[in-house]
Amino acid sequence: MSATKQGSPQIKSKERVTQRGEVFTAEREVNAMCDLVKHECLRPDSRFLEPACGDGNFLSVILKRKLDELRRKYRNSPHDYERQAIVAIGSLYGVDIQNDNVLACRERLYAIWDGEYTAHCKADASDETRAAARFIINRNIINGNALTLMCVDADGNDTSAPIVFSEWTLIGGNRMQRSDYTMADLLLYNDSSEGNLFALTEEQKAEGGIFLRRYVTHYKKVQDYGE
Ligand SMILES: C[S@@+](CC[C@H](N)C(=O)[O-])C[C@H]1O[C@@H](n2cnc3c(N)ncnc32)[C@H](O)[C@@H]1O
Repeated sequence: MSATKQGSPQIKSKERVTQRGEVFTAEREVNAMCDLVKHECLRPDSRFLEPACGDGNFLSVILKRKLDELRRKYRNSPHDYERQAIVAIGSLYGVDIQNDNVLACRERLYAIWDGEYTAHCKADASDETRAAARFIINRNIINGNALTLMCVDADGNDTSAPIVFSEWTLIGGNRMQRSDYTMADLLLYNDSSEGNLFALTEEQKAEGGIFLRRYVTHYKKVQDYGE
């Protein structure tokens, strides 16, 4: 399966270009930019945020690279592949103001993830894990305004709900910790020299001062806790 839409037009309509600055990046440029951080694109837990993600041109290439690497690494271990494939999908974040782009991005990431997961894990693949991946994608790819940091309605107008990102961390064996933070807090507290979305100081983490919620559960059951 191709990670990108080969030969897709870079523009959908003049209106969308004028109103939303929507011009999609061509696959060749996406790959060239990903090559600049190619080692990060292989690590399942290195996090990427595309703040105007469109239908996911960058996120889909990064996901495919991560899953290819996992396939190579865990050739004979479907269980390890499955856990790390969940970590990989949890590492990708996107925001877009246009709802159709958000829906397309989610579907595209899920199609790549499920295609690879099913091909690699075969009879060991489960619908429960697929539901976990879907849940994570729905939480991570957000219909919002990356300038005001608020979620938006179907017309792209700000709502009263802030953009919230979940930090997904595998802690020991099969347990997945989800910690929710507003995007506004992450940017406020972020030390930009770290280049890390969830780069809070140890004090901030210890105090738990700015996170909103935390859940810990089996990585296959993340969809059973919280919205
Ligand atoms: C130039 S396109 C880039 C899409 C994709 N990142 C790519 O490279 O193919 C810009 C995208 O930003 C979105 N956008 C425009 N204003 C935005 C805002 N304030 N917050 C979030 N997304 C926005 C548009 O809907 C559009 O999908």
